[in-house]
Amino acid sequence: MRLAVFCSGYGSNFQALADAVRRRKLRAEIVLLVSDNPASFAVRRAVRAGIPVCLISPKLFESRAEWERLIVRVLRSQGVDLVVLAGFMRILTPYFIGAYRGKIVNIHPSYLPAFKGAHAIRDAFEAGVRETGVTVHHVTNELDSGAVILQKKVKVRRGDTLASLEKRIHAVEHRLYPAAIRKLLSKRAR
Ligand code: GRF
Repeated sequence: MRLAVFCSGYGSNFQALADAVRRRKLRAEIVLLVSDNPASFAVRRAVRAGIPVCLISPKLFESRAEWERLIVRVLRSQGVDLVVLAGFMRILTPYFIGAYRGKIVNIHPSYLPAFKGAHAIRDAFEAGVRETGVTVHHVTNELDSGAVILQKKVKVRRGDTLASLEKRIHAVEHRLYPAAIRKLLSKRAR
């Protein structure tokens, strides 16, 4: 399977996926890192890992759809068959989701459907819940709502700070994302 990973920021999930591929824990190839943000540390990680980068600022375009049309062309030229969103901070339009229907996945730092949205860890922490989690799901037109591929609960410990909870959630993410993609791979092989 040929993956394109989309990142806007730090890229620790991208790194976890790249490491899993390198260690042969994930029988896939990351053919492209797509980013909308030149300051994204994920871009540096990709360069270091020798993974080609597609870095195009949406600001160069009149509309989001125009940026997406170009990205779809790039993905097709590279034979990408799974789009992996990993901290990609833009909402994709129905055009893009239609172009890769059923082939876009995302990781979200909560046990969905609880705590959708951009501040899921903080929202869960502030709500005082006893457990939250991580979800890998298919992407549909409705935000954080597609079918779940894998989920894992994470307990909120007494004495946890937002930072300590974030750290544990990210550690779970780094294992769950490769596992979820392995699950998709094994389904496809059947
Ligand atoms: C992760 O918490 C992921 O669940 C969310 O954005 C964050 C990205 O972190 N969608 P990183 O860039 O992979 O370090």
